[in-house]
Amino acid sequence: DWTMAEFRETKIAEIRAQVGDKRVICGLSGGVDSAVAAVLIHEAIGEQLTCVFVDHGLMRSGEAEQVVSLFRGHYNIPLVHVNAETLFLSGLAGITDPEAKRKFIGKTFIEVFESEANKVGGAEFLAQGTLYPDVIESVSFTGGPSVTIKSHHNVGGLPERMNMKLVEPLRELFKDEVRELGRELGLPDIFVGRHPFPGPGLAIRIPGEVTRERCDILRKADAIYLEEIRNAGLYDAIWQAFAVLLPVRSVGVMGDGRTYDSVLALRAVTSTDGMTAQAFEFPGGFLPRVATRIINEVKGINRVTYDYTSKPPGTIEWE
Ligand code: XMP
Repeated sequence: DWTMAEFRETKIAEIRAQVGDKRVICGLSGGVDSAVAAVLIHEAIGEQLTCVFVDHGLMRSGEAEQVVSLFRGHYNIPLVHVNAETLFLSGLAGITDPEAKRKFIGKTFIEVFESEANKVGGAEFLAQGTLYPDVIESVSFTGGPSVTIKSHHNVGGLPERMNMKLVEPLRELFKDEVRELGRELGLPDIFVGRHPFPGPGLAIRIPGEVTRERCDILRKADAIYLEEIRNAGLYDAIWQAFAVLLPVRSVGVMGDGRTYDSVLALRAVTSTDGMTAQAFEFPGGFLPRVATRIINEVKGINRVTYDYTSKPPGTIEWE
C-alpha cells in the first residue's frame, strides 16, 4: 500500500545510493518512460545527470521537437541532441530481419551513448526507462515456453559487452503507474498522456528494408492518421495507434492512370499494460475518411487496410 509520492522518495534515495558521486547518462527515446526516468533521476542527482536524445531518424513527425522543448524549455534540464540519422539509416541498409533490426539499433544506441559519456568526462552509469512489461516480454512469453518474443531495445537488445552499469528506476512499474509518477513529477498532461512509442521507432513499422524514403512516406501517413484521431476526440480512448508501411505493392487507378504503389496498414489498440490488446473499433466513416486522405495526400501509397488482430495471438507492433 504505497503512494506515488512515497515511491518517488524511495527511488530518489536508491538512485543516490547506487550512483554516489558518479556521472549518469540518460537516453531519451521521445517516449513517456525515458522522460519520467530522466526527470526522476535529475531530481535525485541534479547536474551529475546528462540527458542524451539520440535522433535516429526513425521518429514520428514532430516528436524530436517535443522532447527537446520539454527538457530545455519546461524543465531546464540540459540535453544533448545527437543527430544520428545517417549512422542508423546507413547501418540498417539491407537488414530485413526484425530481430536483426532491433539488435543493430540497440547496439548503435549504446555506441552513441558511450561516445557521449566520454565527452562528459566518463559516465559510469546508463539510465533507461525500462518498465516491468519490457523486462518480462524480453525474457520469455508468459506461461509459454522460454522463447524471446522480441528484444525490446532497452532490455534484451543491449549488447553483451557494455561498459556502463544500468540505472533503471521504473523496472517495477506498469505504464499507468509511470504516467501517475510523471504527473507527480509535474510532466505536462499532454506529454504524460502520449501513446507509447517503441525505442526502435519507425524501423519496426517498416517490415522489410528501412530506407529514408520509406520513413518519410510512413511519417506523412502516420501524421494524417494521428491528426484525424485527435480531431475526432479519440486519442485518449486508444492505447496506441500507428501506421505500418508494408513491403507489398498493389495495383490501383488514380484519375485516368494506373498506379502500382505501397500498401499501408493502420493499427489502433486498447490495452491496460501492453501485455494484451484488442483492436480498437472506430466509429463508422472514420477509417474510410482516413484512407481517402492518405491515398490522396501521400505519394507512394495507393491502398490502406486496417489490422483487426488481438494480442495474443498478434503483438502490438508488427515486428
Ligand atoms: P509488442 O509489439 O511487443 O509491444 O506487443 C508491446 C508494447 O511495447 C512497445 N515496444 C517497445 N518499447 N522498446 C520499447 O521501448 C522496444 O524495443 C519495443 N518494442 C515494442 C510497443 O510499442 C507496445 O507499446
